[in-house]
Amino acid sequence: MKTLAVISRKGGAGKTTLAVNLAITAHLAGLKTMIADMDPQRSATDALRARVAPGPTLMEINAGKLFQTKATAGYSGYDCVIVDTPAAPDADVLQAVQCADLCVLVCRPTFLDIASVARSAEAVRRLGKKGLIVLSQAPPRRNGEEPSSVLKAAEALRFTGMPMAPVGLRARAAFQQSMAHGRSACEWEPNSAASQEIKRLWDHLETLAPSGQNDLYLRAN
Ligand SMILES: Nc1ncnc2c1ncn2[C@@H]1O[C@H](COP(=O)(O)OP(=O)(O)O)[C@@H](O)[C@H]1O
Ligand SMILES: [Mg+2]
Repeated sequence: MKTLAVISRKGGAGKTTLAVNLAITAHLAGLKTMIADMDPQRSATDALRARVAPGPTLMEINAGKLFQTKATAGYSGYDCVIVDTPAAPDADVLQAVQCADLCVLVCRPTFLDIASVARSAEAVRRLGKKGLIVLSQAPPRRNGEEPSSVLKAAEALRFTGMPMAPVGLRARAAFQQSMAHGRSACEWEPNSAASQEIKRLWDHLETLAPSGQNDLYLRAN
């Protein structure tokens, strides 16, 4: 089983949107998937309660329940747990980092998000965890050209020493509209650019933390 923690200390960065999209993508790929909603705002819960089709198992938890929830998911044959985290407090975010195989650091291409992600990257490294940065709500290319805000963000983020995902999420209406129905962008507009972004990102995450990677560990222990 693998555990992904979706992290950003900035509210509105796009954590919940990404966490819900990844969890549904994992579910549709045939993985037994849980989304652990650790944010007292319960946005992931709001989104998934609007869902009609079967989907990932939703657990509303707090930081104190995280390790037990993960252990229970392991015993219950889950392949993948995705933790949607709050922006604060720090202690709760660090708990999520601790329990993750891979931390997904969500970052809009803005100065304040980048400064905040640099601190999160440091915390992930200090705890000896694997992480990667995913750009969120980036403005789309214009005439095939990458907007300067994205180029500058990519440059600044290199200094965090943390790898950046080769694909990020652009600011797209499909990500907003699909959430209102508890659906992923892939279900909402299967052939859209938003759908391609999520699929490509999921494939990349699978190479970094394959869903079966902890099975041997669990069996041996
Ligand atoms: N890639 C995106 N494109 C367009 N809107 C987005 C995108 N990601 C998030 N949003 C919107 O931004 C707002 C905050 O997103 P959310 O996922 O709740 O962030 P967080 O969980 O980090 O607070 C929501 O209104 C959401 O619909
Ligand atoms: Mg959220």
